[in-house]
Amino acid sequence: MLAIGSDHAAFTFKEEIKAYLTEKGIQFKDFGCHSEERTDYPIYAEKVANAIVNGECQRGLLFCGTGIGISLAANKVPGIRAAVCSNCYTAAMSRQHNDANILAIGARVVGIDLAKRIIDTWLESEFEGGRHHDRVELITAIEVKHLKNPTA
Ligand code: RB5
Repeated sequence: MLAIGSDHAAFTFKEEIKAYLTEKGIQFKDFGCHSEERTDYPIYAEKVANAIVNGECQRGLLFCGTGIGISLAANKVPGIRAAVCSNCYTAAMSRQHNDANILAIGARVVGIDLAKRIIDTWLESEFEGGRHHDRVELITAIEVKHLKNPTA
């Protein structure tokens, strides 16, 4: 199950992506927002991130104007590796090398057709493990260290 979220700036973009995923038979859960009314991207970043770390969903897609704010917020949740991607190469690498569990896209940056290709690539790409596993573990170690001692 894929978790999906966006702020108002990416609401219609999210709706188009939802229609695309439905067409492809990909199951998702939409964590909002639910209209173009102005709202705050950290709300949806946290909802989607929580759904992944609590096991309700395996991966997530987050959209805001640039993809930056919503990914920054999601990355504050321990266990989340959110990558902002504007092309298929970085989307593939974010899975293969970084084991990204959230893909963020900027609705004001990337056209909808390219976004669909980026999402396809990201969903089809698998983590390569090996030396990349050790590096991802080092990222997690930073998280664990700072959770134990915030001034570390
Ligand atoms: C909203 O205007 C915009 O700031 C937001 O969607 C996002 O781009 C933030 O990073």
